[in-house]
Amino acid sequence: MHRKTNGKSILSICLYHRFHIFGVFLLALLLLLASRHGLLRSQRTMAISPESPPGFATRSATRGDLEAITTIAILGWVFDKQWDYRFPYAKQYPEDHRHWTKARYSQYMDEVEAGKAMMMVAEKRPDSSSTESNIVAFSIWQLPGHHIKPATPGKPTPTGPSTQDPERKDANLARMKLFREVLNKGKAQYFDNIYGESQLYLMTLVTHPDHFRRGAGTTLMRWGLEKAKQEKLVITLFASQMGYGLYKKLGFGVVGEVTVQIEGEEEKLNIPGMTIMP
Ligand SMILES: CC(C)(COP(=O)(O)OP(=O)(O)OC[C@H]1O[C@@H](n2cnc3c(N)ncnc32)[C@H](O)[C@@H]1OP(=O)(O)O)[C@@H](O)C(=O)NCCC(=O)NCCS
Repeated sequence: MHRKTNGKSILSICLYHRFHIFGVFLLALLLLLASRHGLLRSQRTMAISPESPPGFATRSATRGDLEAITTIAILGWVFDKQWDYRFPYAKQYPEDHRHWTKARYSQYMDEVEAGKAMMMVAEKRPDSSSTESNIVAFSIWQLPGHHIKPATPGKPTPTGPSTQDPERKDANLARMKLFREVLNKGKAQYFDNIYGESQLYLMTLVTHPDHFRRGAGTTLMRWGLEKAKQEKLVITLFASQMGYGLYKKLGFGVVGEVTVQIEGEEEKLNIPGMTIMP
């Protein structure tokens, strides 16, 4: 009974293992009690809940992203009335609409390449099984140093690249033109005259509708807030109806409003100008 094995008695080995078996039993009992009282269940739910931090990554856009960006713009913007106001025939002429929308974002990309703007995308964490684009949202920012355009005597101040081609069939060209004029005037009045080149101006922000309200817009805005904080800039923007709630939540304040309305038309857009100094 007290036979020795490597200097230890069988009895002491039995006692040692019994102690471990008892420990395992105690742990299993504790786990059972914890799960009965919902402690483990709530932790598991938190890990898969849609309210969890989404974990989008941001990076600079490239020309290779233009197709994905065009798709997001067309699918996302249609939810806001600004889009229908300017492009009321988009559904009637989808190919035309896609062509001109892509042309617009290609022009923005020219501005990025000229160092005047930054285009950022928010991506889902890559899923190795999918070959689809992971981009779910994008934003375009006009950089400091490129807000006040030098006026050439005798020539009107340039207003940036134009996609108001009379050939395009998806748009209401008069509204498009007025929209741009009113926003340029409002930008000068509420932002450029006050902050000059010390501003980061948000030109556009759109999320793919499949990913609305999951934090992609916030992720891109937080990128801008961080940049503005580091470079001591004010963020300036004109808010769409849909964007307003997002900017308010982030602490932006309204500094003015512009109205786009063609004489004799009932339809109009009231667009608030907003700023924040992070
Ligand atoms: C505005 C827009 C970019 C928001 O993108 P998003 O990825 O859904 O934004 P988030 O998930 O980060 O939203 C964060 C918060 O913003 C607010 N918000 C977002 N969308 C909103 C909406 N449609 N109505 C009211 N509040 C809204 C909410 O407070 C939301 O938090 P919650 O979901 O916890 O309530 C998106 O709705 C969109 O692309 N709209 C069409 C284009 C547009 O209007 N762009 C704005 C240009 S100024």
